[in-house]
Amino acid sequence: MSESETKNSSRILLGVTGGVAAYKSPEIVRRLTEQGAEVQVVMTRAAEEFVGVAALQAVSGRPVRRDMFDAAAEAAMGHIELARWADRVIVAPATANFIASLAGGFATDLLSTLCLATEAPITLAPAMNRVMWAHPAVQQNCATLKARGVRLLGPAEGEQACGETGLGRMVEPAEIAAAMLSKPTWLAPQLLAGRRVVITAGPTREPIDPVRYITNRSSGKMGYAIAVAAAEAGADVLLISGPVSLDAPAGVERVMVETAEDMFRASTAAAKEADIFIGCAAVADYRPPTAALQKIKRSAQEMRLDLVRSPDTLASVAAMPDGPFTVGFAAETENVSEHARGKLDSKGVDMIAANLVGPARGFDSETNALQVFWNQGSARIGEDTKLAVARRLIVLVAERFKAASRAGGVTQAAS
Ligand code: PMT
Repeated sequence: MSESETKNSSRILLGVTGGVAAYKSPEIVRRLTEQGAEVQVVMTRAAEEFVGVAALQAVSGRPVRRDMFDAAAEAAMGHIELARWADRVIVAPATANFIASLAGGFATDLLSTLCLATEAPITLAPAMNRVMWAHPAVQQNCATLKARGVRLLGPAEGEQACGETGLGRMVEPAEIAAAMLSKPTWLAPQLLAGRRVVITAGPTREPIDPVRYITNRSSGKMGYAIAVAAAEAGADVLLISGPVSLDAPAGVERVMVETAEDMFRASTAAAKEADIFIGCAAVADYRPPTAALQKIKRSAQEMRLDLVRSPDTLASVAAMPDGPFTVGFAAETENVSEHARGKLDSKGVDMIAANLVGPARGFDSETNALQVFWNQGSARIGEDTKLAVARRLIVLVAERFKAASRAGGVTQAAS
């Protein structure tokens, strides 16, 4: 991590805009300050309808800034000085109106002016009604901001203040504080800003009859961690997931699939729009050719199950003309590097991340370690939590993706 990334990393400017979720802002401040961060709150006029200035002042221990033309506040610290003071900016909640204003480059109040005047990384935690969130104008504004390196945290799914249920809730204060206080080598440079990354995760289920299926031990944790890390790095992430019991990570679009064929169809369609494809799913290599329509009865002493090969999603994506930069995984129980290098060639991928799997290793564990191979090199990522490993993998993938783009080996889906 460079000095500039660690220096003063706890000066956080919290922008609060006018949404119901603003009542949670004092909790964000409390969680940040109890970890030693200095927090300066800047509110819009509309935010004052939802949360008291006094509460935010009390928890932050600093006067709340509200007005561009407050002579006393400007004399203490002018707005440009304030923009320079911040190491990070988080706007939580960020309303549709604020998102539009930032995307349009308007400096209509103190907060929007600060966001234009700062060089600190900006994170937004959107909060609005689910229909507003899905509106093409909001989605387009978010895409514009992401392409400029603004990071979006959420929104989350769930019950909304308006009584509806869906995507649009502000992510919880604890999650916002954790995201702001983590030490992100991947965050500051926004390594994948403006890039579309498609990731597969979890197992597939191949039906035998209406109640039985073939599957494997994948929990989805590694693939989901990669989705989180890619989103942290500024990418627009689509997660194609087999059946797992994990929630969709905040700010990540998720499509659930069941079988290897579903995974193949969803992935090959999504890969056409992707810059980077990462195949972390444990896709069944073989499947019953057809599933019995009724439950198979326990009658014969022995029974045989015919299996046919399922389509190879990863190899197919790697073979797509003008396809994305493709990263595979290799799950090996022995001779890890030898088998992984073999898969790098046989599947025609740009990179392969190999992990040793076995009882309590790789599959359904909290930690992992990877050996990563590409044509001209390799790297080792030591044992750590799956999220820490995923973050290091994303840094490597971004580096190799950039090198391949420079060499003209990757078609750019986003500019
Ligand atoms: O989900 P967790 O519990 O966290 O566990 C993580 C993991 C161990 C599953 C993960 O780290 C991992 O290794 N994923 C790949 C598992 C796998 O299927 O490996 P493989 O060596 O059999 O396959 C090689 C590559 O081909 C993989 O990228 C796989 O997604 C892909 N593949 C395989 C078969 C197939 N029909 N289609 C594919 O795309």
